[in-house]
Amino acid sequence: MKITKTTAPKAKYTDTSKLGFGKYFTDHMLVMEYENGAWGEPEICPYAPFSMPPATNLLHYGQGIFEGAKAYRTEDGKITVFRIDDNFARMNRSATRMCMPTIDADVVKSALFELLRLEQDWIPTAPGTALYIRPTMIADEEMLGVHASKRYKFFIILSPVGSYYANGLEPTKILVEEHLVRAAIGGTGEAKCMGNYACSLMGGEYANRKGYDQALWLDAAEHKYVEEVGSMNMFFVISDTVVTPALVGSILPGITRDSALQVLRKYGYRVEERRIGMDEIVAAYDNGQLKEAFGTGTAAVISPVGVIGFRGKDMVINGGKMGEITAFLYDKITGIQSERCADEFGWVTEVK
Ligand code: COI
Repeated sequence: MKITKTTAPKAKYTDTSKLGFGKYFTDHMLVMEYENGAWGEPEICPYAPFSMPPATNLLHYGQGIFEGAKAYRTEDGKITVFRIDDNFARMNRSATRMCMPTIDADVVKSALFELLRLEQDWIPTAPGTALYIRPTMIADEEMLGVHASKRYKFFIILSPVGSYYANGLEPTKILVEEHLVRAAIGGTGEAKCMGNYACSLMGGEYANRKGYDQALWLDAAEHKYVEEVGSMNMFFVISDTVVTPALVGSILPGITRDSALQVLRKYGYRVEERRIGMDEIVAAYDNGQLKEAFGTGTAAVISPVGVIGFRGKDMVINGGKMGEITAFLYDKITGIQSERCADEFGWVTEVK
């Protein structure tokens, strides 16, 4: 594999408590080009801007997809990754939905491991930190006709991160968005494509202006059923049952969502994947049965939700504090990721 090392390594972060999310990038990246119906060899090169013609398809029609995964440095110095095969499998499903070529997950995984070995000194070790992995694929043909590109660029960049939200594990406030729509059945909601995030910005900004952290999206047809938060899948503890919206086609099939479900089921919690109407959430809140709410995501990990704003009223959940099941899941999943807990599900791979 061709590796070109930087001649100007960057100064690394000095304070892990100030990492935040996605502000720092390591010295190198992985790049692989697709043309004439085939992927070339992956290469590692210095992290640097791409140059592309103004008529590149991506810039006009948004044919682009990405993934989010994390690498960790364990206490005994190993480099590990969490469920990375699931990320590449989902990327290939997203690629198919967006008329993009699939990648050979084994080739890309071993190239990623090479990159991680090269960048290992960038992996932060403080609790709650990780090296975020962002695999991305973009349409790269210089052509204004609306059609699937014939050229693509795949790349992976790495970013040392702390918590996704500025307030760390403080419960977030989310605002139910009843007018704008993130995704409809038959659309691209379950693909991790760039457009899903672009179209969620307005709802997010509206929520921010009203003093909330994010928008909670409802279904497109009836504006009634909970879908997701855009950067997180949603879970609610109603009475003694943990409920999460079923993957109906418009919701991202989150890998942390799946991890949470597997942990909960294994540890004997009653779990349901189904439609959840806002009327049910409000009724559960009113009769004291809405015990907890939390979001799951690679970036967000397990994030407690303390307030749900709906039709001018705030539902304050569990006194605005992280609930018991949320805390259990956070400890278990971050425990498996950091090797503090046994890897009971076979989710962790060592990068040797
Ligand atoms: C992730 O959790 O990795 C995501 O991709 C969500 C968001 C940061 C875009």
